[in-house]
Amino acid sequence: MRIAFFEVQDWEQPFLEEGLKGHEVNLFNGVLDGESVNKAKDAQVISVFIYSSLNKELISQLTNARLIATRSTGFDHIDLQECKKRGITVSNVPIYGETTVAEHTFALILSLSRIIHDAYERTRRGDFTCVGVQGFDLNGKILGVLGTGRIGVKVIEIAKGFRMNVLAYDRYPDNNLADALGFKYTSAMDLLQKSDIVTLHLPLNDETYHFLNKHTINTMKQGSVVINTARGGLIDTQALTDALMSGHLSGAGLDVLEEESLIREEAQLLLDNVPRERLATMLRAHILLRLKNVVITPHCAFNSKESLERLVYGTIENIKAFSEGKPQNVIKTK
Ligand code: NAI
Repeated sequence: MRIAFFEVQDWEQPFLEEGLKGHEVNLFNGVLDGESVNKAKDAQVISVFIYSSLNKELISQLTNARLIATRSTGFDHIDLQECKKRGITVSNVPIYGETTVAEHTFALILSLSRIIHDAYERTRRGDFTCVGVQGFDLNGKILGVLGTGRIGVKVIEIAKGFRMNVLAYDRYPDNNLADALGFKYTSAMDLLQKSDIVTLHLPLNDETYHFLNKHTINTMKQGSVVINTARGGLIDTQALTDALMSGHLSGAGLDVLEEESLIREEAQLLLDNVPRERLATMLRAHILLRLKNVVITPHCAFNSKESLERLVYGTIENIKAFSEGKPQNVIKTK
C-alpha cells in the first residue's frame, strides 16, 4: 500500500520506515491541506496529526484513500460523516498518553496553586521575596473532574495522592470505579458549584462545545480555577477571559485554546479568507495569553518520549491491521 504521513517529526522517520517495511511510505513534515493534498492523492492510507483539518472539501480530493489513521486520540479535526459517505475507515490511537496527559494536568494545577510561573520569572530576575506568590494547598481541596474516561481516571488517581476530595461528572458514571478510587459522581452543575479546581477531560463534539460558557462559568465557585487539557472548543474564550479579568475565577491552566491552529499559523491569516468570528476568537485567546493568572502550554500535554513512541507504534499497528483486513481502533460514526 502507499501510505502518506503528514506532520511528521524527524524522530518518527526511522520508526515509521522500519515498522511499515514492505509498504511505500512517504513522509511529509507539513500539514495536509489544500496546498499539499496532491501528495496524498495516490495514497490508500493517510496519516495525520491534529493540525491537518480534514474537512469535507479536502476529503473529497483524497480519491484513493481507504484509511485515515490519525496519530492522536481526539478526532474532531476529521469530518467523520464525509469519510463514512466515501467508505473511508478512520482509526485513532485511544490509549497512548493517558498518564502523560494526567501528569501534565497536574503540572498546570501545581503551577497555579504554587504560582510557579510567576515565582520562576521573578527569581530569575534576582527577586527572592515571597510577596505576591502565596499559593494554596491541594490537600483537602475539591477537584471537579468533567469526564471520567481514560485521562480523567488517571487524574483522579493522582489527585488522591494529594489527598484531594474528588467530584466527577460523566454521561456514563461507573459507580464501582468511584467506590474503588474513593470519589463521588454528581451533576455537572453541582460539581461546578462546589469545586475549587475544575478540570476538563471530555471529547469535543456538538454536545460538549462551549461546555463552560457564560452561564456555566457563573455557577462556578468564586475564586476557583479551571484546567483544560482536552480541547479549546470546550470553553467559550470570551466567557473565560471575562471571568478571569473580573476575579470570579482566580486562574486558568490551559494546554488547548479555541482557534489554536490560527494562532500557530498566523502568517497564513493574511492569505486565507478566515471568517471574522474565528479571528475574533483568536484575538480573545491573545488576551488570555497575557493574563498573569493564566498558564498556557502549546497543546503538548501528550508530548513525552514514552507516549509519543506508543502513539507511533499504535498507528503502525492500526495500519498493519487494516492492510491485513482486520481494522482496529476504528472510530464509529452515528
Ligand atoms: P475518553 O473517551 O476515554 O473519555 C471521555 C469521557 O467523556 C468518557 O467517559 C465519556 O463517557 C465522557 N463524555 C463524553 N461525552 C460526554 C458528555 N456529553 N457529557 C458527559 N460526559 C461525556 O477520552 P480520553 O482519552 O480521556 O481523552 C479526553 C480528551 O482529551 C480527548 O477527547 C482529547 O480531546 C483530549 N486529549 C488531549 C491531549 C493533549 O495533548 N492535550 C492528548 C490526548 C487527548
